[in-house]
Amino acid sequence: AVVTYILPDGAEINADTGRTRENVMTLARREGVPGIPGDCGGFMACATCHVYIAPEWREAVGPPASEEEDEMLDLAGERRPESRLGCQIWLDKHLDGLRLRPANA
Ligand code: FES
Repeated sequence: AVVTYILPDGAEINADTGRTRENVMTLARREGVPGIPGDCGGFMACATCHVYIAPEWREAVGPPASEEEDEMLDLAGERRPESRLGCQIWLDKHLDGLRLRPANA
């Protein structure tokens, strides 16, 4: 799946998972996308992977996947309706073209 990360200055970084099974955080780290350091390694313990999903993708991505994610988002800065933890969004075909903003960039 190809994901577009939109930075605060409007610049866009396109990244492709290729055949690798990745989530929004691991892909961002591999591609050097700023603002998604993923300090805890994807264990829902840091919220440094906080992202805002673009409006047209909110339905496809859905709400927080678990109670743990929901609670961690409450601790993240500036939670919005479109907030998700990047480490909990696994990128398969139905998310090809996904657009989002790193919350901490
Ligand atoms: Fe730490 Fe997602 S990488 S909560």
